[in-house]
Amino acid sequence: MSSGPARKRTAILISGRGSNMVSLVEAAKPADFPAEITLVLSNAPEAGGLARAAEAGIATAAVDHRPFRGDREAFERAMDEVLRINQIELVVLAGFMRVLTPWFVTRWQGRLINIHPSLLPLFRGTHTHRQALEAGVAEHGCSVHFVVPELDAGPVIAQAKVPVLPGDDEDKLAARVLEQEHKLYPLALAEVASGRAVLAGDSVIRR
Ligand code: GAR
Repeated sequence: MSSGPARKRTAILISGRGSNMVSLVEAAKPADFPAEITLVLSNAPEAGGLARAAEAGIATAAVDHRPFRGDREAFERAMDEVLRINQIELVVLAGFMRVLTPWFVTRWQGRLINIHPSLLPLFRGTHTHRQALEAGVAEHGCSVHFVVPELDAGPVIAQAKVPVLPGDDEDKLAARVLEQEHKLYPLALAEVASGRAVLAGDSVIRR
């Protein structure tokens, strides 16, 4: 039996409950999915997502950022070592709530993607659903993008939109967006892992 192209060894970085991580792990189960999730890594040893990953049979690791006392690069060097030991080729941020330094971002350039709960370039940073409600937009959503040194500024690979409805509060809107995140992220990961979406300078090239 001939084997297909090698699947990209992929790590998912999380800080919390890991619902996007679970949807990515599910999507990557078939042997023809171009990414193989081989590690779930967290900066928070108590993150609920670590237990969910372990239940799914994925190797887990935690590099607690707190002992590094604000030395972000030293923290990232420790994470990078774990990624190297696990022979990781692609890094997927899924609710990873530490801002990464240019050192890490440059090292993983083109192999580092993130999901952000807004239609970038709108509403960078935190509390994106609150920002959307306060701005009074009719549409909101989520974006998967390549990570660049500037926060939430990398070229967008894919987006999904949801309506903002009368009576929405942050939680209702967040839940509507999250449902789309769970569909969008596996599609975007497949594009990147298969080489169909490639970072080229400030843009994404399709092949
Ligand atoms: C998701 O909504 C993700 O888009 C967001 O955190 C949530 C994590 O949920 N990420 C960011 O805000 C990154 N700046 P999850 O842990 O259930 O996947």
